[in-house]
Amino acid sequence: MSIQASRSLLRRQLLGDVKRRVAREPYRCFSCTFPHAQQHTPPPKSPRDAPGTTHFGFETVAEAMKEQKVGAVFSSVASSYDTMNDLMSLGIHRLWKDHFVRNLNPGRNPLTAPSQSSLSSEQGWHILDIAGGTGDIAFRMLDHASTINNDAHTRVTVADINPHMLEEGKKRAIATPYARSPRLKFVEANAEKLDMIPDSSIDLYTVAFGIRNFTHKDAAIREAFRVLKPGGVFACLEFSKVNNSIFDAVYKRWSFGAIPLIGQVVAGDRDSYQYLVESIEKFPSQTEFRDMIKEAGFLVPGQGWEDLTGGIAAIHKGVKPVS
Ligand SMILES: C[S@@+](CC[C@H](N)C(=O)[O-])C[C@H]1O[C@@H](n2cnc3c(N)ncnc32)[C@H](O)[C@@H]1O
Repeated sequence: MSIQASRSLLRRQLLGDVKRRVAREPYRCFSCTFPHAQQHTPPPKSPRDAPGTTHFGFETVAEAMKEQKVGAVFSSVASSYDTMNDLMSLGIHRLWKDHFVRNLNPGRNPLTAPSQSSLSSEQGWHILDIAGGTGDIAFRMLDHASTINNDAHTRVTVADINPHMLEEGKKRAIATPYARSPRLKFVEANAEKLDMIPDSSIDLYTVAFGIRNFTHKDAAIREAFRVLKPGGVFACLEFSKVNNSIFDAVYKRWSFGAIPLIGQVVAGDRDSYQYLVESIEKFPSQTEFRDMIKEAGFLVPGQGWEDLTGGIAAIHKGVKPVS
């Protein structure tokens, strides 16, 4: 066969392969045009999932299956989680987390926090970081308490359902001053049932980029209410709804077009990252989520949330009333 003939055969084979892939996965192409990107919009929202079912990204699954499927996603992404977070958010997740922690101002500063404050016991704060995975929030909390508030007592319990994510957190903790300190503890736990945490024992409950993965978000918020002391704070950093339509279109194109592709190239796992972007889309809006926090019994300061980067993410807060 001549060189020209073999080149044209190769080109036909490659094109055939691409066409077959496009037919199978029409929306997963990085270079997809905007109309393609729009087709990622989830099916019209039903007010509630059918009884016994929930969503796993855009897929409807039996409630009993979701935990297992989410577990598989995070076991798969655990070792590349940090690199992927940086690539997917262009490093912005670090700024959001810094802001989240700075704004909560963890730790008891004896000069500025008189001891009558419910968040300022002599022992420092007990912070529960749920879905704490790789320890990103916990390390920041401890750094802030130590360096800004000069508080060497505040401690963080990192709870996560996934042992692989916890392993990554423990590995990363070795490089921090808290590695063998009683100020940092890792526990395997489901946010929806925190039996090992006594009632009214926690000063600050945080959950960052975790709650959208829970099967029963309302049950998790009720557990947060139970474990917090009166006056204790629930604080959630999560992806949310972009409030400008043009920015939203650009953002959706980035997230649905690029993120699964980056997942495929960097982590060799497209499907997990496809789930991550779909789960963002399925998460309630700022007002819906604020109302869920209120329904659990929390008092909500101001409008109840702060948008970050035009609503790509938001911080929601609730305070457990002092009765
Ligand atoms: C996107 S990661 C967030 C990790 C970390 N908080 C951060 O901001 O980088 C989501 C985490 O939620 C955890 N998770 C999912 N469902 C959970 C549940 N029901 N209870 C506790 N953790 C859960 C996963 O195992 C995973 O570690």
